[in-house]
Amino acid sequence: MKAVILAGGSGTRLFPLSRKNYPKQFLKIGSSKSLFQNTVLRLSPISKDPIIITNKEYKFHVINQLKEIGITNYHLIEEPVGRNTAPAIALALKFAIEQLDLPEDEVLGIFPSDHLIEPTDLFVDYVKKAEKVAKDYLITFGIKPTKPETGYGYIESGEKINDYTYKVVKFHEKPSLEKAQSYIQKGNYYWNSGMFAFTISNILQELKKHSLDIYQLFQENSYQSLLENFQNMPDISIDYAIMEKTGKAAVIPLDLKWSDLGSWDSVYQTLDKDQNQNVKEGKVVDIDTKNSVIISNKRLITTISVEDLIIVETDDVILIAKKGETQKVKDLVNTLKENP
Ligand code: GDD
Ligand code: MG
Repeated sequence: MKAVILAGGSGTRLFPLSRKNYPKQFLKIGSSKSLFQNTVLRLSPISKDPIIITNKEYKFHVINQLKEIGITNYHLIEEPVGRNTAPAIALALKFAIEQLDLPEDEVLGIFPSDHLIEPTDLFVDYVKKAEKVAKDYLITFGIKPTKPETGYGYIESGEKINDYTYKVVKFHEKPSLEKAQSYIQKGNYYWNSGMFAFTISNILQELKKHSLDIYQLFQENSYQSLLENFQNMPDISIDYAIMEKTGKAAVIPLDLKWSDLGSWDSVYQTLDKDQNQNVKEGKVVDIDTKNSVIISNKRLITTISVEDLIIVETDDVILIAKKGETQKVKDLVNTLKENP
């Protein structure tokens, strides 16, 4: 398998730690290594020289962070503009065929770079299993849903293929809250973890069938000219471009710890807590403080008798939020864009 690591997203849902010029994948939260660094290390038993695809703006973060963990064997693709994951994957595909000379039946594993996944050995087992069934299907990896989260794709699973794989009846990207609620009650729906495994020939076939604009650009251009004309690609994710439309998907349900750390609330739920149920990082001194996230970057944060708070200190911004309300961080970021 050849791993393709997607590291070009620009989310700001962990503002003020994540910013447009310093997105979530490069943050070190709950670990001495960043989410991106842990992704690369987690994949090293699977694919020795991964393809890392990022935006040119983040090139130096990628290079520096790889250097920090001693990884020297990798291929770096720099997108001149961001066009979401379907074009990013198409570009990586072109690179794999043209520059690395990979055969049509080679399996590509697509991995987001901003998730927390544990434990690594179990993850590696699942990916190896996926490689075995990827000749016939576009493999997705499902997570048992715990709440009607609308920021995820939902995988409706059907007939059993083997003892760890099921056919996908339908893939539903980012449904409404009502639909998400009905899905989680049904029991045969999984969250899409955002990772995929497929052969070069299968994904090309599906691009041709369901995403002709991307497929034509892919066919008409060399790797170099695709890169130069990347702005002509449509802005669309692989979930909408292919996964919602294909009839060839299968799902491997994962029984491990997975989080996309998509909000401060999910950081709270995911990371280890102290005896007062606090997640603390950096210089923090607290008295009678409970159920909170307190992250100091530089300055000392002190608290007395507060609970259910999110406090995040950076050089120029301090966020104080009520736990349970951090989906509103995106509204805050939008307000700041309008009134900087
Ligand atoms: N190279 C590159 N270029 N990478 C990108 C780009 C891009 O233009 N856009 C996003 N990425 C990377 C992000 O950094 C992330 O690692 C991954 O691709 C997924 O992109 P997100 O933008 O985070 O997607 P999402 O969270 O809205 O939705 C996806 O992930 C969910 C699980 O976290 C979908 O696959 C959902 O179905 C899924 O449930
Ligand atoms: Mg995401």
